[in-house]
Amino acid sequence: MKKKSVYITGGTSGIGWELAKIYLKLGHTVGICGRSEKKIQAIREQESQIPNFKQLVLQRYDISIREQCRENIQFFIQKCGLDLFIANAGVAFSDKKNIPNFEKSKQILDINVNGFLYSVEPAIEHFIQQQSGHLVGVSSIAAHVCMPGVSAYASSKAFVLHLMKCYQQDLRDHNINTTVVCPGYVRTELTSKNKHAMPQILSAEQAAHKIAGAISRKKIVYTFPFALGFVAKLIGALPPRILYFLLQGFPFKFSRKVKKPRP
Ligand SMILES: NC(=O)c1ccc[n+]([C@@H]2O[C@H](COP(=O)([O-])OP(=O)(O)OC[C@H]3O[C@@H](n4cnc5c(N)ncnc54)[C@H](OP(=O)(O)O)[C@@H]3O)[C@@H](O)[C@H]2O)c1
Repeated sequence: MKKKSVYITGGTSGIGWELAKIYLKLGHTVGICGRSEKKIQAIREQESQIPNFKQLVLQRYDISIREQCRENIQFFIQKCGLDLFIANAGVAFSDKKNIPNFEKSKQILDINVNGFLYSVEPAIEHFIQQQSGHLVGVSSIAAHVCMPGVSAYASSKAFVLHLMKCYQQDLRDHNINTTVVCPGYVRTELTSKNKHAMPQILSAEQAAHKIAGAISRKKIVYTFPFALGFVAKLIGALPPRILYFLLQGFPFKFSRKVKKPRP
């Protein structure tokens, strides 16, 4: 198998780190990034347990700062080339409320939307120049349905889904493949503080194997797990009034700790 060069934003924990381990095991060169020095240090300490650890490039920066993205990703490309770019980094907040928190909404959009654009920019420029490459965007099942309480997160992921479908049209003339993945619930730091039920939850390792499989099959849109994705798409297609009655109170209604305050 031809050895590839793979870059994963937000590869320092969760789904991204599990993907990084899969590609390292296959002998590819892998670049990852994240903001937390603690997470990067924890990865360095695993050196002896990770196959081909010497082929791992660790970078610490914030994807919501355009210059940092350009500088770090271009540095990786110059050093290692680039065949596969996975724009995975993203944030969510556990305190789901139907009164929008505008400060948190801004933080989500700065990373999940602007940071997404800033990180794919140098990768797409390189792919166009080399007239080949595979661009992957990590969206969410939340992109398919207007869930109450997660307005900014769901909208940011709908942006990623729509953008990647547009890129599929724009970039295929340059021999660039695109894949957008929409995972359901995955057990990671991002979901660790959720108090509501998370049906069909997968481990980060299971999710990463599914995503890597979809990438190798060059899927254009990949939503998983299938049953949850099917339901999300179905209810996402309902007229807003019906959706409101169906989802009223979610996620509070299905909260694991539903405790009504005593009068
Ligand atoms: N877990 C789920 O159920 C689920 C479901 C659907 C979609 N997703 C999506 O999957 C992706 C990965 O999430 P995860 O569940 O694996 O969460 P995670 O364990 O919290 O991983 C997120 C990764 O992104 C990095 N990151 C966050 N903000 C960043 C920034 N501004 N600049 C650089 N790196 C940043 C984090 O590192 P630092 O914290 O050090 O910056 C970390 O490496 C996200 O886009 C998420 O929206 C997750």
